[in-house]
Amino acid sequence: MASQMTDNKTQDTVDITFEGKSISLPIVRGTENESAADISKLRSTSGLITLDPGYGNTGACQSAITFIDGEKGILRYRGYPIEQLAEHSTFLEVAWLLIKGELPTRADLALFSREIARHTMLHEDFRDFFGSLPKDAHPMPVCAATVGALATFYQEPESDRQIQNTVIRLLAKMPTIAAYSYKHSIGQAFMYPQNDLDYSANFLQMMFATPCEEYVVDPVISKAVDLLLILHADHEQNCSTSTVRMVGSSQANLFAGISAGISALWGPLHGGANQKVIEMLEQIAREEGSAEKFLNRARDKGDTTRLMGFGHRIYKNYDPRAAVLKKTCSQVINKLGTSSRLLEIAMKLEEIALRDEYFVSRKLYPNVDFYSGVIYKALGIPTNMFTVMFAMGRLPGWIAHFLEMRNDPDFRIGRPRQVYTGSKERPYVGMDRRS
Ligand code: SDX
Repeated sequence: MASQMTDNKTQDTVDITFEGKSISLPIVRGTENESAADISKLRSTSGLITLDPGYGNTGACQSAITFIDGEKGILRYRGYPIEQLAEHSTFLEVAWLLIKGELPTRADLALFSREIARHTMLHEDFRDFFGSLPKDAHPMPVCAATVGALATFYQEPESDRQIQNTVIRLLAKMPTIAAYSYKHSIGQAFMYPQNDLDYSANFLQMMFATPCEEYVVDPVISKAVDLLLILHADHEQNCSTSTVRMVGSSQANLFAGISAGISALWGPLHGGANQKVIEMLEQIAREEGSAEKFLNRARDKGDTTRLMGFGHRIYKNYDPRAAVLKKTCSQVINKLGTSSRLLEIAMKLEEIALRDEYFVSRKLYPNVDFYSGVIYKALGIPTNMFTVMFAMGRLPGWIAHFLEMRNDPDFRIGRPRQVYTGSKERPYVGMDRRS
């Protein structure tokens, strides 16, 4: 690395030589000393582009929302450690923090909560919308389609005011959309939101109440749901958040960005892993003693089986969210007086994997999805709703990143380049001359 004086400031650079030409790339440093070579002028000065499939080494942006130190297992939202937010905060307070950048005052939070409570209902025409969808559809594409369809009901031209309205509408209506996608899948009547209940309690009553029977919200369950939402609220430039930023970079609206984020999250390598973890644990529970057999398959290069809920692109240490969830698992199950064979199996799998060379050498630890499904199951959340819970939690993070990108004066439409490996130029061949 070299240093150059620019505007009386020392600018660190990294120098590369290509085809006899030397190029100096400025170094950008973050507040936690993350260092990046700024390649924004690379092609215009050298003709070179960079190649980084999966973007494992590529920063897409500078962001002030969430900090992760994967080597140390650190996660902070706007500088606040996830462990402290999990212990002291609420989901709506965390949503405000992520979106606005500071913890809300009591008055801020009261007004924010009231605004959200007043926008929880869906337009009645959504009943026909849900009715047109197959009952056995997975709730994730139902939620993605419904959030996208919100853009047909709210068509005001984009303005700062309209974007703020959209933020409130999305946060308010996501639990209603989630609960309705579940009720639709089981053929039960939709339950209207009850605005005198807090965010998580309202979601639970829309999920489990029926016109014939009131659902009394257990504060233990409601608090656990709120904690799960906090733990999922943001995670910097993950696959679905990068998708939201990419869609928003074309100046498509926030409904479109969030709908795309929900679709990206559905994948089993991403948010869909929590459902796969439970299916894996249930399979092991059915086939006695198959934990070791399962781990053998996960280690076998010739087998595509993976230990779902393990491994992470950024964490090469224990995912701090998994640590909180593991502790919460036992607390919730004890408080509810239930037992969990699945929790025992999960802890056994973790114990074996964390002393197994294959997993240790690759720094594969439990991630957020490994224990979350066990808690969702203990709370009575249906398995196919686990990733919807993840989407509900991640919503404020997606919104915060969309707004951060849109408010960046230097933001540009996302448009990566490629290294072309296809055919060189060749003349068109008429049908009769093709073999
Ligand atoms: C989330 O990015 C985020 O922040 C995501 C997230 C968020 O909050 O937004 O944290 C949420 O998506 C958590 C991850 C949920 N997914 C899973 O639990 C699925 C199982 N895990 C993996 O498929 C994998 O670990 C990924 C997808 C999470 C990460 O994949 P990478 O970074 O591309 O790593 P890789 O596939 O290149 O794996 C490196 C090595 C490979 O072996 P080798 O080729 O070196 O021999 O580790 C192996 C992999 O085969 N490996 C696993 C494994 N995960 C990686 N082997 C067995 N089981 C696993 N789970």
